[in-house]
Amino acid sequence: MSVLVTGGLGYIGSHTCVELMNAGIDVVVADNLYNCKKSSYDRIKALVGRDFKFYECDIRDAEGLSGIFENESIESVIHFAGLKAVGESVEKPLEYFDNNVTGTLILLDVMRKYGCKKIVFSSSATVYGMNNVSPLVESMEVGGVTNPYGRTKFMIECILKDLYTSDNEWSICLLRYFNPIGAHKSGTMGEDPNGIPNNLMPYITQVAIGKRDHLTVYGDDYDTHDGTGVRDYIHVVDLALGHVKAVNKVAGESGLFIYNLGTGIGYSVLDVVKAFEKASGKKIPYEIGPRRSGDIATCYSDASKALNELGWRAERGLDEMCEDSWRWQSQNPNGYPD
Ligand code: NAD
Ligand code: UD1
Repeated sequence: MSVLVTGGLGYIGSHTCVELMNAGIDVVVADNLYNCKKSSYDRIKALVGRDFKFYECDIRDAEGLSGIFENESIESVIHFAGLKAVGESVEKPLEYFDNNVTGTLILLDVMRKYGCKKIVFSSSATVYGMNNVSPLVESMEVGGVTNPYGRTKFMIECILKDLYTSDNEWSICLLRYFNPIGAHKSGTMGEDPNGIPNNLMPYITQVAIGKRDHLTVYGDDYDTHDGTGVRDYIHVVDLALGHVKAVNKVAGESGLFIYNLGTGIGYSVLDVVKAFEKASGKKIPYEIGPRRSGDIATCYSDASKALNELGWRAERGLDEMCEDSWRWQSQNPNGYPD
């Protein structure tokens, strides 16, 4: 029996495939290669030392997905496939709703057709919206989201909750990620954004490698210890290991489970800059700019539910996240090869 990993060649998916196979779990990947390179597949294989099935398939292609379920013995699905850029989602809401929401509906329909009712879904801390106060707890009301990307995550959470209500044989795990950064220790896998990075860590690593002049810090007048935004950064390998726990959870029992995957610790933008400078030995020039629209001052998790129910906690600290991000960037200045 295998786990079908949608979006399995992307940043989080690739690290998760490695940890699943390291744990002895077979994987089958479906990815349309929209936001990744095929060479990510070769890097995963090289790290785990064995082959696995990859289908170039869009999750909106019901026939293609059905073919995977016909050919493979799929026990559960980890569903990463989706578009994730907040700014782009404001420009292209229809594309985001189509890819993320329609794509998920088609995937769920095919799963049901083949009697596969176990799914782990990549949700986001963004579903907590602007009004909840950190530490964020899974029982808080969600939904005050301010952009189409965040709304797709909220809508998919609602769809999955309604699905479980309609049929208690499903086993559904919603994982709300905080801020994944870092890379595989080998330096062969990491985050490879297209164009100008939207997120903090890939921007910093591109400044360090000389691709960008300086970092713009989006505001230093927040109510935080140094005025810059505070977030809960989590090492991508810890996040990947959380998925191994989650997939075992859905394999073992039916239910609707919701977990934050974060460290429970908040660091400011300047804390991250300092830690990165220490890890890389590179100076990161920065300028203070205006606040970015839609940002909040502070966002970090209460990570105790995942510890209590899954036996999972993040083990890797900020220094290690910075060291591993830098190793990946410095060994692969242009990301994955074409
Ligand atoms: P990513 O873009 O690196 O990976 C997503 C993968 O899905 C890519 O390989 C892409 O080619 C593929 N894909 C996209 N649309 C597809 C489709 N219609 N059919 C098949 N494949 C498709 O992103 P990531 O950072 O690895 O994120 C994975 C998931 O986690 C996403 O759903 C994202 O919204 C969610 N998430 C990410 C973060 C983060 O900070 N990276 C935070 C919270 C949630
Ligand atoms: C962003 C998204 C969120 C998404 C998450 C992971 C927004 C408003 N939120 O979260 O929905 O789930 O990415 O993909 O886009 N910063 C700078 N300079 C930069 C980049 C970032 O100062 O060049 C600051 C931000 O203001 C923030 C922190 O760094 O305080 C982290 O930013 P980022 O990495 O973009 O993550 P989030 O904003 O938390």
